[in-house]
Amino acid sequence: MKNIKFTETVLRDANQSLIATRLGFSEFEPILKDLDDCGYYSLECWGGATFDSCLRYLDEDPWERLRKIKKACPKTPLQMLLRGQNILGYKHYPDDVVRKFVQKSVENGIDIIRIFDALNDIRNIEVAVDETLKCGAHASGCICYTISPIHNLESYVKLAKDIEALGVQSICVKDMAGIMSPQQAFELVTALKANVKVPIVIHTHNTTGLGPMTLLKAAEAGADVIDTAVSCFSGGTSQPPTETMAYTLREMGFQVDLDDKKVKKVNDFFKPIRNSCLKEGRLNPVVMANATDALVYQVPGGMLSNLVAQLTAQNSLDKLDAVLEEVPKVRKDLGYPPLVTPMSQMVGVQATVNVLTGGRYKNVSKEIKAYVKGEYGRAPGKIDPKVQKLVLGDEKPITERYADLLEPGFEKAKKELGERAHSDEDVLSYIAFPTQAEAFFDKRDRKEDNDTFTFSIREIK
Ligand code: CO
Repeated sequence: MKNIKFTETVLRDANQSLIATRLGFSEFEPILKDLDDCGYYSLECWGGATFDSCLRYLDEDPWERLRKIKKACPKTPLQMLLRGQNILGYKHYPDDVVRKFVQKSVENGIDIIRIFDALNDIRNIEVAVDETLKCGAHASGCICYTISPIHNLESYVKLAKDIEALGVQSICVKDMAGIMSPQQAFELVTALKANVKVPIVIHTHNTTGLGPMTLLKAAEAGADVIDTAVSCFSGGTSQPPTETMAYTLREMGFQVDLDDKKVKKVNDFFKPIRNSCLKEGRLNPVVMANATDALVYQVPGGMLSNLVAQLTAQNSLDKLDAVLEEVPKVRKDLGYPPLVTPMSQMVGVQATVNVLTGGRYKNVSKEIKAYVKGEYGRAPGKIDPKVQKLVLGDEKPITERYADLLEPGFEKAKKELGERAHSDEDVLSYIAFPTQAEAFFDKRDRKEDNDTFTFSIREIK
């Protein structure tokens, strides 16, 4: 009987996809012990947008959150999402910063680091993978799934073999846009299982409603781990439901080592939280429903709503069809980047500008220029030489790995912060999100001053 394992995403991706990562630690703290008892392969609980959201909106130290989760969940491996050389953001950081971030993540409680690069440029994940392995943690290398004339089974198998050669302990097919169909998943997992030895993990979103079918076919093809969210925080832009997948897979003869009673307890715990999120407006019911436009236009749901918003703001919603026709052309010009953040926004804006100005690449954002220059990494396909010339003029694109051109950054930032940083973790928060981290440090300092003040008044009494 084939065993299939589950990664629970309620603390990270489900939280991020449905309620913009606004779940505070104190809200989910009471259920952590039970989450630890469910029998999950891993708990995805950190990285992605959780870090920024902790500092920016929740007044939490993300590192402290991680340590507290680890303390409450000592049995289940804790998992984070890392954007390779971009750590948690969209710019490239020097290698010393990436290594330090990985070291501190593992030291503070992370067991599995899922590492991806939005362009699938392996040079942008290799340092993070290497450091994860050096720290004795599990490195999971990602294939960012996309659909294009140059992305096919052969290219994905080649990428998977290259990732496996880095020494990763698993490979994750990351369908962040929720566009992988059940049949595509079946064929891809079959091909990967025939060509690589490490376990295959499948990550998708249920935006189009394909999610559970996609996971099911992936399981049939031999996937080892699937990402799901406990049912009341599942569906829509989140992951397919844990309980439904467990029920179905068991019935089909798979071995599922989840404790159903515990999972129910977890779901019962989150239900009133979900309901109050709906009531307060933290959760918009629209994101829980299926949106199938992505299947028609072959662009991710989030990108489509951005395009509509942009055009509405320009009073040009009547140009939507023209822009949607321009999107695949821009994508082709740029060598078929996967339409995931930030590429989806960059391609969307460029397509809109091309249509609205009536001249292709007359105006180009600095992000597109940086991409064409090679600062994001290597394009999956060939960038059209004519477009390259239009965008760069006489400037030459770079062929080196961009991070190789960067000066080391950790010690410099540490010096800059001086006594305001209480730890190396603070320095990393500051490097990743300088403005948010400083505001957080200010608040923390004020709070500490107040604490001392109350203390001294008590002393006087
Ligand atoms: Co995701």
